[in-house]
This record gives sequence, structure tokens and C-alpha cells, in this order.
Amino acid sequence: MAYDIIVIGTGPGGYVCAVKAAQLGLQVAVVEKRATYGGTCLNVGCIPSKALLHASEMYHAAHHLDGLGIEIGEARLNLDKMMAHKDATVKSNVDGVAYLFKKNKIDTFQGTGRVVSAGKVSVTAEDGSAQELEAKAIVIATGSDVAGIPGVQVDIDEEVIVSSTGGIALKQVPGHMVVVGGGVIGLELGSVWARLGAKVTVVEYLDSILGGMDGEVSKQFQRMLAKQGLTFNLGAKVTGVTRTESGANVTFEPVKGGEAQTITADIVLVATGRKPYTAGLGLEEAGVALDNRGRIEIDNHFQTNVPGIFAIGDVVKGPMLAHKAEDEGVALAEILAGQRGHVNYDVIPGVVYTQPEVASVGKTEEELKAQGIAYKVGKFPFSANGRARAMLATDGFVKILADAETDRLLGGHIIGFGAGEMIHEIATVMEFGGSSEDLGRTCHAHPTMSEAVKEAALATFFKPIHM
Ligand code: NAI
Repeated sequence: MAYDIIVIGTGPGGYVCAVKAAQLGLQVAVVEKRATYGGTCLNVGCIPSKALLHASEMYHAAHHLDGLGIEIGEARLNLDKMMAHKDATVKSNVDGVAYLFKKNKIDTFQGTGRVVSAGKVSVTAEDGSAQELEAKAIVIATGSDVAGIPGVQVDIDEEVIVSSTGGIALKQVPGHMVVVGGGVIGLELGSVWARLGAKVTVVEYLDSILGGMDGEVSKQFQRMLAKQGLTFNLGAKVTGVTRTESGANVTFEPVKGGEAQTITADIVLVATGRKPYTAGLGLEEAGVALDNRGRIEIDNHFQTNVPGIFAIGDVVKGPMLAHKAEDEGVALAEILAGQRGHVNYDVIPGVVYTQPEVASVGKTEEELKAQGIAYKVGKFPFSANGRARAMLATDGFVKILADAETDRLLGGHIIGFGAGEMIHEIATVMEFGGSSEDLGRTCHAHPTMSEAVKEAALATFFKPIHM
């Protein structure tokens, strides 16, 4: 049978594309080499890490309830049970995708998919048996893989030297964890293990953590994490990671020159980025062009240079974020069904799920300066928000950026409890081309943390009430 669409890879990009296309009446098949659906995100990424982030936050909070008048004695950690919660969370999510495939009458093929040519995909099962499928459109949604440390030979054994995959499955809390890379993965997983009792040292090449984030947010975030016990070596380039009998040695040197130093670790988490996963897909033979960073090149409709072959998600340009891949999956399904699919790349929120959370959408101040755009800033701290005081969640602030002349919202940045939820109201107003005045004049329920967003918007176009 010839399908309308075959999707290779069932991560957030691939499975959402398949479901949307089926909803629009197309005949869809998916090819997945893992035993379960959902890709990196559901199996070993976003979802399990959030289970551990939440559980470790609760463990940490249980030690700090005095301020609310709750005395519970010492909370004890049962890591096996915490991991079982994580595994159960993964199972319910990957089972959910299998249910969606069934409900939408999507055919599933277990095995490694390879593009034979436009219109033809071969699927090789684990036992070596192969079959060929045909489709009008092939969608490559194979995601990304751990990039390793650029220029450094590291043997990631997932036991002592781990990527995020091993980092969410440690058998015990390490005495000392060294995190290579102060990006999203390093800080999320670093804070999980710090909360569970590990000493955590982050070694980061740049002068700031979360490179690319708004500078003010990044600075305050680093101070908060340092208060939680994380140690930072910034402007430090890791040049070697080697196994020892009892753990590993990590060597790094100041980027601006100086003495190299070596520290010992029980566990080294390598979190220095991810790379597009295109190996074994037959792209070269099919004539599909890659760019100089190994990403599949696509046009504005997600089509590669070979008609009928499309690509979305981490394997193409843009931020490696599950929700960006999902939106591309929806847009592509709509295009393939004859509709007008579209992704607004200017309004893609980013969230770091630490405690407090860090969330942003749109431009940072640094970007606006670099682009010569005149802007206004409005800020409001959670310390002046009644609900935050009631919850002892006064750390952090909301920052809104708007065009100096038109007041159109250009960006929003939040550090604080629940930032990852609050960011969406800023995103929604931005999606509609709204202004800081629109946001500031929208009635917000009292008392809520979200009132800080409203106040920051008021501060952007005039003055906040509570400051
Ligand atoms: P990242 O790109 O966020 O951070 C990697 C960091 O490693 C950078 O700050 C870089 O300067 C540093 N680095 C590189 N080489 C180094 C060296 N030799 N020595 C010291 N530092 C070095 O990558 P990360 O954290 O691995 O995440 C990978 C991808 O997964 C990202 O695209 C991220 O957006 C995505 N992700 C998103 C999450 C979220 O949205 N909450 C959660 C986890 C991952």
C-alpha cells in the first residue's frame, strides 16, 4: 500500500506530524527504531528529567518547610522509588503516543528507517528482516544525539562519564558531580543531583551560564544556583575527561589563558550540546543536502532539495526544542494536506525547568542592542507580589521589552516560581502583535504570581502600581 506520508522518527516532531496529518484525512505510517514511541523527549529527555526535577524539588522543599510552620523531622530519600516514579511517568507518556497512533489509524513499523529514494523507505527490523514502504511524502524527524565535547575525545560510558541519558538513571547520589557545560541540560540535571545531596561543580566555556539568555536573567540565575550549592567555573574550557579507578578526572583551562587544572569527580555529566541525527538514513545516496553544521537543509515548506522528502525538528535549523519540532510537525502536516501551515519562529518560548524556573520569549536586551532596535524595559520583582510572599517564592523578576516607538512587545523574560507557565501570556500577546499596554491593561486575578507580569507591562509603558 502506498501512504500519503511516512514519518521516520516518533519524537515530538514526528508523532505530532503523523497525528495531525491523520486528523486531516491522510494515510500515515510511522517508522521507529526504539521499542517505544516518543523519541528522546519522552523516553530519556524532557519527560523523565521533569519527573526527577519535580521529585527532587519536593525532597528539597521538605527540608525547608519551617518557614511555613511545618515541622516534619528529617525527610529521607528513596532513590529507587524516585526512579520508579520517573519510569512510570515515561511509560504513561509513551503508551499515550501508541494510543494516539491507534486512535488515528496510523500504521506503525518498528525498525530503522532509511530513505531509498523519493517515495521509498526501507525498514530494517532488529532481527535483520527488511521491508520497503512507499509514500507520496517522506518526513525525516529523527531528532538529535549527544554532540560530545568539541575537539575532545571523551568516552561516554553512561556509568561514570554520562550524557543526559545516564544522568537521569544514576544508581546512587554521587559525592561529586562535575558538569561540563552550563547550558540547559547541565543546569537542570546539575540541580537535580545537588538537591539530592551531591556536590556539583559546573565548568562552562563562556563567561555566563545559559549563553544566549538575557544577561540580567543569567546573572541573577547563577547567584540563585550558587546559593543552592552549585559551584561555577566560568570562562573555563574542558580539555580532557578521563576515567580513573574510582571515578574520573576533568581537566580545564581558562579560556583567556592561564594554568590548566584537574579536578576529580565521581560522575561527569557531559552537557555540551546536541547534534542532528542523520546517520544511516541514506541521505547521501538519496541526494539530500546537509548544511555546514550537518543539519538537513529545507525550504520554507520544510522540503529538502529532493522533492517529496521533508524534514522537521532537531534535524533542521532552529532551536533544538520539542515544542518547536511539534509546531513544525503540525505546519508540515497542514501543508501536505493542502492547507497553509506556518511557524512563527519569533515567538518560541524557552524554559529552563530548575527551581526557580527561567523562561523567555522573543528578543533579549543584548539582541535588541546588537540589532540597533530602540526599546523600553519594564521590570517587576516577585518580592513586591503578594502571592509570592505568601508562598515564600519572592526570588526573581519579570522583565518586558517593548518597541520604544510603537510599544509592540518584543520580548519577555521571567525568573521565578512558575515562570514556565507565566511566559505564555506574554507569548500570546506577542503572537497577536500586542503592546505592553495591552498586557498591562488586561485584568489579572488577584492574588497571583501572574500579576507580576501585568506590573512589568505597566512598568514598560508607564508605571507599576506596587513599586
Ligand atoms: P547547550 O548548548 O544548552 O549548552 C552547552 C554548553 O556547553 C554551552 O554553554 C557551551 O558554551 C558549553 N561548552 C561547550 N564546550 C565546552 C567545553 N569544552 N568546556 C566547557 N564548556 C563547554 O547544550 P545542552 O545543555 O547539552 O542541551 C542540548 C540541547 O537540548 C539544547 O539545544 C537545549 O536547548 C536542549 N534542551 C532543552 C531543554 C529545555 O528546553 N528545558 C532541556 C534540555 C535540553
